[in-house]
Amino acid sequence: MTLDDWLREARARIDSRDAQVLAAHALGCDRAGLIARGLDPLADPARATLDRLLERRAAGEPVAYLVGRREFFGLDIAVGPGVLIPRPDTEVLVERALECIAALPAPRVLDAGTGSGAIALAIKAQCPRGRVQALDRSEAALAIARDNGRRLGLEVGWIASNWLEAVAGEEFDCIVSNPPYIRTGDPHLAQGDLRFEPPSALASGEDGLDDLRILCRQAPPRLAEGGWLLCEHGYDQAPAVRALMRCAGLADVASWRDIAGIERVSGGRRRGGD
Ligand SMILES: C[S@@+](CC[C@H](N)C(=O)[O-])C[C@H]1O[C@@H](n2cnc3c(N)ncnc32)[C@H](O)[C@@H]1O
Repeated sequence: MTLDDWLREARARIDSRDAQVLAAHALGCDRAGLIARGLDPLADPARATLDRLLERRAAGEPVAYLVGRREFFGLDIAVGPGVLIPRPDTEVLVERALECIAALPAPRVLDAGTGSGAIALAIKAQCPRGRVQALDRSEAALAIARDNGRRLGLEVGWIASNWLEAVAGEEFDCIVSNPPYIRTGDPHLAQGDLRFEPPSALASGEDGLDDLRILCRQAPPRLAEGGWLLCEHGYDQAPAVRALMRCAGLADVASWRDIAGIERVSGGRRRGGD
């Protein structure tokens, strides 16, 4: 069997791009390398490795977990079963945070519920003058995030904390969060990639807003005057999150759309500062 034969058989069972990504990962080459090696005979152990990856993907395991990587905001982020796989939807949260801190000489930023560290690392990469800290309750997630920071050469302070408890005495110019926001029992939790991701990163009570409620309560006292709280949320949660932010006393509350045109991020700022 040649590599092209294997790719043909794989395409009958999984998405053709996924087949290419898995083959490139297993053979240690890029997509151009796959074309160059298409007619090479595929011998063990490479063939056995590819077949195992194919079986796991056909059973639904996310490609990002199989290859241990996902690109986010131009960064190569390592991921594993202990963390959420960063989503393109979340890039709007990073863009909005960068706009909020653009005019500040040394912005203090906190990423709450950092998972793989993707958001914190993207902000630090784009704004090296910022002092970026990131927290998570999951030690497994923090270990992956810390390794990502080290490998990418980006300095972020990693903190183990139940939401903002461990940063009670600190003040931030921007607190960003992509918290769990899916309704417990939502059928999507039993479908696609979500089946393989940690439930503690996804579900948040009957209406999906339990963690957003906590953040909207805990964040305002930790914001500098004029500082922003920015949160990602579900496709239909923007009005509820704006209401939570207004109730928490934040001003200039608004929502922003993701690449699919869905209101995906809401935010507000502490009064004062300008
Ligand atoms: C939806 S994931 C987001 C991960 C990452 N920020 C991203 O966007 O890819 C939510 C994260 O919040 C963390 N988390 C859940 N409950 C938490 C809590 N009480 N305190 C701190 N972090 C929490 C989870 O461990 C998970 O890493």
